[in-house]
Amino acid sequence: MSLLYFCNVGKIITMETKLLEGNEAIELGAKLIQDGEVVVFPTETVYGLGADAFNVDAVKKIYLAKGRPSDNPLIVHIYSKDQIKDLVSFISQDAKLLIDTFMPGPITIIMPKADSIPKEVTGGLDTVGIRMPSHPIANAFLKACKTPIAAPSANVSTHISPTNAEDVFEDMQGRVPLIIQGGKSDVGIESTIVDMTGDIPTILRPGGITQEMIANVLGACESFKGKVTVAKAPGMKYKHYAPLCPMVIAETFDSMINEYNRVKSEGKNPIIIARDDVIQKLNGERYIDVGINADETMRNIFASMHEGQRIADYIICQDFGEDGKNASVMNRVNKAAGGVRV
Ligand code: TXA
Ligand code: MG
Repeated sequence: MSLLYFCNVGKIITMETKLLEGNEAIELGAKLIQDGEVVVFPTETVYGLGADAFNVDAVKKIYLAKGRPSDNPLIVHIYSKDQIKDLVSFISQDAKLLIDTFMPGPITIIMPKADSIPKEVTGGLDTVGIRMPSHPIANAFLKACKTPIAAPSANVSTHISPTNAEDVFEDMQGRVPLIIQGGKSDVGIESTIVDMTGDIPTILRPGGITQEMIANVLGACESFKGKVTVAKAPGMKYKHYAPLCPMVIAETFDSMINEYNRVKSEGKNPIIIARDDVIQKLNGERYIDVGINADETMRNIFASMHEGQRIADYIICQDFGEDGKNASVMNRVNKAAGGVRV
């Protein structure tokens, strides 16, 4: 076991990390997977850190490379809907409707798992999350692997999810042998997770497919609220997505400017993350523009946090509101800010 596996944080370089593109990357990636290694691949949501879902030793390398607790279940990625029947023990009518409507795309569907899936993948749960990405490079890679791929987001545990290969490289360099270049992730936050094992479809994590979109197809869809139980979703008890510097949410334009000036007077180097209309009103404050609407904000939000922690030491993020996809964006912003508002 290499030093890497004892060192969960920090930048110790213990293996060469290749960043490759095209067929060469996919072929090498598939070979590494067949050899029981981990590979970073692009998807339309965020980049994933994949291993053969049927190879327990390979799956353990995911947890080690991320420094992630091993009771946090992994999503299983496929390239063809035909693979689903081998991974789950039961597909309800409603689950089938969701598969037909939203796959491939930014959705993960929780179903009862098949016996063949190792407990190391599901964190001991008897359910499994299935996801079929729409990104063409993800699709080509998953097909070349010839096996379902268990994959969390390709960030060190508690760090921000990556939406471009360069942000992966910065965070995971030395921890993985290969990153497959796939450009900028189009959706920009992790998939919507919907639990189809209960009476009513329940969203465990909001994303690019909203509660309304699912309710439109199934007639009803609950949003996960209230106390998080270990049995339901172990991963949700962990803090996620924190930038390396403090981050707060500004409720109003005035509180944003006040906070900016306050921390600046303390000698800090703050930066504002905001939408175009807010940026227009700034007067010399440093900023990162996340676009003009909810889709653009979703696409840019994680990259803006990566950029913010790189070039500033204090992030002040606009409150984008709770309607439609903004709620999914704010779910990630709230976690990153640890709920701190000004
Ligand atoms: O968009 C995505 O979903 C990305 C890309 C790479 O596909 N993946 C991703 O994986 O975000 P990860 O591991 O960072 O987040 C997966 C979440 C965790 O919070 C985990 O607890 C939850 O999904 N999860 C996985 N399987 C589950 C299950 N059987 N029951 C409940 N929650 C589950
Ligand atoms: Mg993650």
